[in-house]
Amino acid sequence: MSINSTKDMQLLKKIGLIVSQVLKEMRQAAKPGMKTEDLDQIGARLLEKKGARSAPKITYNFPGTTCISVNEEVAHGIPSSRVLAPGDLVNIDVSAELDGYFADTGASFQIPPYHGPTQRLLRVTRSALDKAVNTARAGVRINRIGRAVQDIAQNGGYTVIRNLGGHGVGSALHEEPRFIANYYDRKDDRVLEDGMVITIEPFVSMRAIHVVEQSDGWTLKTPDRSLVAQFEHTLVIRKGYPVLITQL
Ligand code: CO
Ligand code: CO
Repeated sequence: MSINSTKDMQLLKKIGLIVSQVLKEMRQAAKPGMKTEDLDQIGARLLEKKGARSAPKITYNFPGTTCISVNEEVAHGIPSSRVLAPGDLVNIDVSAELDGYFADTGASFQIPPYHGPTQRLLRVTRSALDKAVNTARAGVRINRIGRAVQDIAQNGGYTVIRNLGGHGVGSALHEEPRFIANYYDRKDDRVLEDGMVITIEPFVSMRAIHVVEQSDGWTLKTPDRSLVAQFEHTLVIRKGYPVLITQL
């Protein structure tokens, strides 16, 4: 969507704050020995308390409230009886709707004990998001986002997942502009416009360049089981620095 009024902005910020709080609380609650379905329940209860609805559930009938992906799972992981173990790389993606407005956020983190190479992957992915956010402004091409992500990932010695990317959001979970690549697509001549609501979500990997859907119809994994980290913000494009909708 494109933001047309202060009411649009207020309501988008309201759902943005909710998904950010849910992500933070789930992240703090994640402990070794915990089932991912129990972690999902914490998010479900909090969303319900705020009157918000899970976006993947209402949009795609996803069998969970949030997406929880562990290690070789990259995205769209179904909350299950899988038990979190020390050292696991976990991704939680929270998207929800309130009053017809949608926001989408996600983060990867490691259950202690920390492992140097995994922590480095997390740091580089975070800085890829920061750099991409910094370059996103009205009048520049959408492919600047992918170029920023790819630059940071490759300088760190990593790859980007080519079949996952950002997207328009706001009045639906996924809308125009569709598929904002995490690599430089020279042929993509779409331009960012003032008021445009998008997500930026780099998926940076140790080795993999794509993910493959599993037989459950949801979970996306790397074919070589290599690790991937993701951080995601919903933001509103401005002439200057964007408005971060999902930053606490
Ligand atoms: Co997301
Ligand atoms: Co998203």
